[in-house]
Amino acid sequence: MKLVLLGPPGAGKGTQAAMLVKKFAIPQISTGDMLRTAVSGQTPMGIKAKGYMDAGDLVPDEVVVGIVRERLQQVDCATGFILDGFPRTVPQADALKLNLVELSKELDAVISLDVDIDSLVERLTGRRSCGDCGKGFHLKFDPPGADGKCDVCSGELKQRADDQEETIRKRMAVYHQQTAPLEDYYRQAGLLIAVDGMAEITSVQQQILMALQVA
Ligand code: AP5
Ligand code: MG
Ligand code: ZN
Repeated sequence: MKLVLLGPPGAGKGTQAAMLVKKFAIPQISTGDMLRTAVSGQTPMGIKAKGYMDAGDLVPDEVVVGIVRERLQQVDCATGFILDGFPRTVPQADALKLNLVELSKELDAVISLDVDIDSLVERLTGRRSCGDCGKGFHLKFDPPGADGKCDVCSGELKQRADDQEETIRKRMAVYHQQTAPLEDYYRQAGLLIAVDGMAEITSVQQQILMALQVA
């Protein structure tokens, strides 16, 4: 299964990707996670990306296109992958198309998660994730068993640097300007599946699986 998850900040891309990873045994390719790892490791790419990410802006296309191109060539992507947070601009989508041609692969679907703006802010301000294993939680919608601790590994739960309300609003504006045009791009390609992302986490998952006809 070769999928793209499309949707504004907080729509549930990472949450749904984690479930799809288990269902299909294929990797999640999250450009946001890869960039955050580079930032915390202070690699040259991380140092370059940090300012854009802290401001809620997109990192330049050539940076992310390069990391995704390399990642898609790895052996674990042979049977499929879930792209989470990529592509995010029309040039990125065009680059992905070329990469897939090179690899003789085609996307099966682009799942677009629709969620209203007020809910997105609530989701992002309440989001926490484990500093050790990365598992995501939400203080209200998906709370951990013990305050501040991961259910899986007891690691400390952290808040993302860009999950402050002002940066969240900026990320949303950037989404509407630069990423939303991809909905039409993929609708015209006959790949877009729109899913109601306002439903509960498990019900969003059900909708996705039904749309992919694997429920
Ligand atoms: P990235 O990490 O991709 O962030 P984002 O797109 O802003 O999306 P989020 O990760 O914030 O949200 P999500 O949709 O994954 O939601 P989640 O499942 O966590 O990118 C970060 C930055 O990196 C960008 O701003 C940019 O600078 C850079 N970048 C990344 N990719 C790039 C690219 N391709 N090009 C250029 N720059 C790039 O859910 C959110 C919360 O809600 C969680 O707490 C979850 O538990 C909860 N939740 C989820 N679903 C539900 C539900 N159905 N009901 C209730 N709560 C829910
Ligand atoms: Mg995410
Ligand atoms: Zn953990």
